[in-house]
Amino acid sequence: MGDKVMTIVQGALLTTGKAKAVYATDDPNVLWLHSLNQATALNGKQKAEISDKGRLTTQISQQLFRFLKAQGIVTHFQQAVGERDVLVTALDMLPIEVVIRNYAAGHFATRYAVPMLTPLSPTVQEYYFKNDALDDPPLNQSQIFALDLATPSQLTQIEAVAQTVNRQLGQLFEAVGITLIDFKLEFGLDATGALTLGDELSPDNMRLIDQATGQSLDKDVFRQGTGDLRDGYTTVLHRLTTYLGE
Ligand code: TMP
Repeated sequence: MGDKVMTIVQGALLTTGKAKAVYATDDPNVLWLHSLNQATALNGKQKAEISDKGRLTTQISQQLFRFLKAQGIVTHFQQAVGERDVLVTALDMLPIEVVIRNYAAGHFATRYAVPMLTPLSPTVQEYYFKNDALDDPPLNQSQIFALDLATPSQLTQIEAVAQTVNRQLGQLFEAVGITLIDFKLEFGLDATGALTLGDELSPDNMRLIDQATGQSLDKDVFRQGTGDLRDGYTTVLHRLTTYLGE
């Protein structure tokens, strides 16, 4: 889909997360992300090896980042370099997880005793401190500023981008018969200080429901032990690829 092809050499392993290994490259502004065949939940307490998962999340994420880039969203995605490897712009990540909710599910449903899939109006926006040792506690705006995690203007920009991403992804999934329930975004700053959408966009970090069957097509299947998450991920990838092209 017209990504600029670069010749980049994979460098040293920098860090291994729950779902990805991050490598340096010969360009200090570019990182090499390798998706693992691993699923985790409950902040890593639930963990399993799942073959082919890395390919599925990489391919879905690639489709969604390309789509958002085409809509003018500034993202870290540069190009694929293998079935489960991508090159991204190196970012100085803000330690904030941004969650958008269109319908009640997960923590929102349990925390506030709201029936599952109740439509939420306005759309709910939440922040969490990305900190495993603290179990990612919730944050409000004043806490974000007092902890110096982002500036007011960065947060204003994050809110605007998150709303646009929600609108764009919601329409895209609607076009392929899927409802976007909620999702998580992470942002960082590139070498020029520009706020950039980073991380991954896949059913690992969003809830998706098949409108035809009501089936969950995301990691809830793993979290709740109700089936093989690859079935839903394969459906999502197939529908996106059919709609958007390879
Ligand atoms: P939650 O209902 O568990 O708070 O999750 C809301 C959304 O955010 C859901 O789509 C899953 C995603 N999410 C992550 O990607 N990583 C996380 O650590 C958490 C807590 C949620």
